[in-house]
Amino acid sequence: VAGKGAGAGMLQNIPKMLEITRAVVDAVDIPVTVKTRLGWDEGSKVIVDLAESLQDCGIRALTIHGRTRAQMYTGEADWTLIGEVKNNPRMTIPIIGNGDITSPERARECFDRYGVDAVMVGRATFGRPWIFKEIMDVLNPESVSVAHEAVKSGYPVMSADWKIDVLKEQVLTSVRRIDEYRGILHSRRHLAASPVFKGIPNFRETRIAMLRAETVDELFAILERAREAVRQVTD
Ligand SMILES: Cc1cc2nc3c(=O)[nH]c(=O)nc-3n(C[C@H](O)[C@H](O)[C@H](O)COP(=O)(O)O)c2cc1C
Repeated sequence: VAGKGAGAGMLQNIPKMLEITRAVVDAVDIPVTVKTRLGWDEGSKVIVDLAESLQDCGIRALTIHGRTRAQMYTGEADWTLIGEVKNNPRMTIPIIGNGDITSPERARECFDRYGVDAVMVGRATFGRPWIFKEIMDVLNPESVSVAHEAVKSGYPVMSADWKIDVLKEQVLTSVRRIDEYRGILHSRRHLAASPVFKGIPNFRETRIAMLRAETVDELFAILERAREAVRQVTD
C-alpha cells in the first residue's frame, strides 16, 4: 500500500495528503478523522507541523502512531512527539495516541504524561479483547465497567473461563458478520495468541489445531479442551 503512495506512503507527499484530506472533508457531511505516523523516516518526523495542516483541512480528530513508516514495527513508539502535538497551543482537535500500549498501566501513563484525549490499542487486543475493560477499570476505578454485559457467560468477569467465553463470542461475532469460513480465518489466529492459554503444557499442538480449524464446531471443541487444560494449570 505504502509503496504505491497510499496509506503511510502519503507521508512522502504531504501536499497530496493535505489535498486528499481537504477533498474528503468537503465531500462528506460526517466528521472526518485522520490516522498517521510521525513521518516517513527518522529525518522527516513532520508530525507537529503536519498536525496543524491537517487540522486546517477541517479534520475533527487526529490519531498518531508514534513511529515512522521506515521503522515499521521496530523500536519503541516515541510518545514525546505525540505529546508535543497535544501540547501545541494551536491544536484544538482531539489527539488520540497510539503505539505499544500493552497494559492498562501504560494506557494510564500515556494519558497522564502526554495529555492525550484518547488512546488507540492495536496489537495488544489480539486474543485479549478484554484489555479495553482492563483499561477502563484502571482509568475509572469507581465506576464498574459494563463492558462484559454483552457476553452471556455464567462465569465471574475476568476469570479464565469468562475470558474463554469472550473469545468464543468473538468468533461468533466474526462469523455472523462475514461467514463461517472467513469469520474463523479472521479470528482463529487471535485465539491462538491469547494470553489466557499461557502456561498450558504442550500448548503448541493445541495452538496449531486452532490455526487449522475451519468450522465453529471444530474450533469450539478445541477451545473446550484448552479450557480444561487451563483449569488443570490454575487448580
Ligand atoms: C495486522 C495489522 C493491520 C493494520 N492495519 C492498519 C490499517 O489498515 N490502517 C492503519 O492506519 N493502521 C493499521 N495498523 C497499525 C495499527 O493501527 C497501529 O497503528 C499499530 O499497530 C501500532 O499500535 P499498537 O502498538 O497498539 O499495535 C495495522 C496493524 C496491524 C498489526
